[in-house]
Amino acid sequence: MNRLDGKCALITGAARGIGLAFAEAYIKEGARVAIADIDIELGRKSAAALGDRAIAVELDVTQQLSIDRAVRETIEAFGQIDILINNAAIFTAAPIVDLDRADYQRAFDVNFSGTLFTLQSVARHMIDRGIKGRIINMASQAGRRGEPLVAVYCATKAAVISLTQSAGLNLIQHGINVNAISPGVVDGEHWDGVDAFFAKHEGKAPGQKKQEVGESVPFGRMGHAQDLTGMAIFLASDEAEYIVAQTYNVDGGQWMN
Ligand SMILES: NC(=O)c1ccc[n+]([C@@H]2O[C@H](COP(=O)([O-])OP(=O)(O)OC[C@H]3O[C@@H](n4cnc5c(N)ncnc54)[C@H](O)[C@@H]3O)[C@@H](O)[C@H]2O)c1
Repeated sequence: MNRLDGKCALITGAARGIGLAFAEAYIKEGARVAIADIDIELGRKSAAALGDRAIAVELDVTQQLSIDRAVRETIEAFGQIDILINNAAIFTAAPIVDLDRADYQRAFDVNFSGTLFTLQSVARHMIDRGIKGRIINMASQAGRRGEPLVAVYCATKAAVISLTQSAGLNLIQHGINVNAISPGVVDGEHWDGVDAFFAKHEGKAPGQKKQEVGESVPFGRMGHAQDLTGMAIFLASDEAEYIVAQTYNVDGGQWMN
């Protein structure tokens, strides 16, 4: 399949997990991919494993200079950016009475401001060059409704859904489509951390929360990163040209709207 033949993508937080699965899937579809991550060592290893159509660029989405540099480096390497996936995020959780202002700020800086200002930087490039680009933001089922111990992360992801709508409506005049993917529960290192949090706060055995959430998914199991790649390819492909400002659930039936 060559649905992304010749396209150049920048994927944030792609050193591991879902972002890395997106990078691999995009390369199989003919794209070149910049793996942009704060963990540049892992980013380099991941890019090397994907072959010569992947590069690693260092990126801290909380720092404007770092965003500008990563975008510039990607353009220097590939000539242009056709697709951005705003995938980098961190998880944070605490009971309301224990919320910490610094944790709150960090989560919004990475998950929301990082998404907004990376989107802005890449959108400026696309507009300057007349590129009819695609921007995909990673939301979450956590952005569809609150959770008792996850107030801040849920709010960051609700903000990402809102940003997807506003940016989608604003940028389509330039032929840039902005949409989002909303995963449910996806097994991987991210969820190892979530499981450990619930083990501590709900007295569960290690692995128990994962098992419970997996059993509660209508499909019958937690998601794998590869379950999301079809939507990421579709939204970046020519077939998705008329899709604007939407957030798609890819979650085994967890959420409906
Ligand atoms: N795993 C799930 O169950 C799940 C569910 C819903 C939504 N999501 C979303 O999907 C996306 C990917 O999730 P994942 O499970 O692969 O997460 P992950 O924690 O495995 O990967 C996140 C990546 O982001 C990078 N990163 C963190 N801070 C950064 C920063 N400041 N600048 C640049 N990179 C940074 C990390 O180094 C890491 O490589 C995230 O947006 C997450 O919120 C995940």
